[in-house]
Amino acid sequence: MNTVSAPLALMAELTHRCPLQCPYCSNPLELLKAGKERDTAFWLGVIDEAAALGVLQIHFSGGEPTLRRDLPELIKRATERGMYANLITSAVLLDEAKIQALAQAGLGHVQVSFQGDNSETGDRIGNYKGGHEKKIAVARLVTAANMSLTINAVVHRQNLEELPGMIALAEALDADRLEIAHVQYHGWALRNRAALMPTRAQFEAADEIVAAARARLKGRMSIDYVVPDYYAAIPKTCMGGWGQKLLNISPDGRVLPCHAAETIPGLSFDNVGTKPLQQIWYEGQAFNRFRGTDWMEEPCASCALKETDWGGCRCQAMAIAGRATATDPVCQFSPLHTALNTTAATEAATGIGAFIYRRL
Ligand code: FES
Repeated sequence: MNTVSAPLALMAELTHRCPLQCPYCSNPLELLKAGKERDTAFWLGVIDEAAALGVLQIHFSGGEPTLRRDLPELIKRATERGMYANLITSAVLLDEAKIQALAQAGLGHVQVSFQGDNSETGDRIGNYKGGHEKKIAVARLVTAANMSLTINAVVHRQNLEELPGMIALAEALDADRLEIAHVQYHGWALRNRAALMPTRAQFEAADEIVAAARARLKGRMSIDYVVPDYYAAIPKTCMGGWGQKLLNISPDGRVLPCHAAETIPGLSFDNVGTKPLQQIWYEGQAFNRFRGTDWMEEPCASCALKETDWGGCRCQAMAIAGRATATDPVCQFSPLHTALNTTAATEAATGIGAFIYRRL
C-alpha cells in the first residue's frame, strides 16, 4: 500500500477542438463539441481548487487550447495562485501578439509539437497545410519572449527516418528540452497502428540516435525519450502511477486519472462542477480503482518492480488484454508479451499505409 499525496500536476483539457487531424490523437474516441465546454468562471474555480489541493504545475492542453479566448486569463489566475503554467500546443493558431499576451499573463513554458523535420512530412501527418513552417515561426517567438521551449516529436514508422533532422531542428530553435515519444497505441492511434508501427530496425536505430544526441547535447538541451511499448521488455510507469501524481480534467469538467481512462469500463468519473476536487482526488472511485498495488493480479502482485512501474499502463492492458487488471502486455512476464512482439513485426511490415485522420 502507498499513502496518497497531493497531485503534482493538473492537465486542463480546455477543448477537444483542434485544427490538426493527427492519426495518433490522444483525445478520447468520443470528442466533445464546443457546446459541451465549460466556461471561464468554471475553469477559474478549478484553478483555485487545484492550488488549494497543492497542485504545483498546470498544463493547458486540448485539443488545441489556444482556440480558447480566455487562455491568458486562465494562465494569469494559475500563476497568481503559485502554479507553474505550461502550454501544450500545435502552435499553428499563434502569432506574435498572442505569444506576448500569454507571456504577460505569466506563462513559463510552451511545448510545441512537430510531426517531421520538413513541411512535406509535417503537413501530411497533421493534415494541415503550412503548419510546419508556422510551428517554426512560433517556436522562435516563444524563445524571443523568454519562455522555456520544449519541442515534442511524436515518432513512428512514417517519420523515424527524420529523427536526426528533428533533433537538429530542436537545436536550431534553441529548445530547452526535446521530448521524443513513440506513439502509444490506445484510442485513435490504435486504429492507425498498422500504418504507424515502427520496424525493429527503426526502433534500434532510434535508440542509438537518441543516446548519441544525449551525450552530444549534455548540459545544452535535455532529451526525454518514450520508447515504443511494443518493443519494450518492462512497462513504463504510466502517469507516474495511477492516481499518484496527475489528474486530468476533460473539457466538460470530468476528472480522470489519465487522458485515456474512458476506455476502461466500470470507472465512474466525478465532475468538478458537482464535487470538490480534493474529494475527487482522495476518494473518487476512478482514482482509487488502480491506485497502489492491492488491485494487482499475478505476475504483478509478487513482482519486485511493482512499486516502481506500478503495473505499467492500465489503458494498454485494457486495449490489448481486454482487462484493465491484467499485466501490461508490454511486460516480458505477461503471457501476451510474445504475441505483442509478433503483432509489432507483422504490422511494421505492411508498407506505407494510409492514415485514418482524426476529425471532430
Ligand atoms: Fe491510461 Fe496509461 S494511458 S494508464
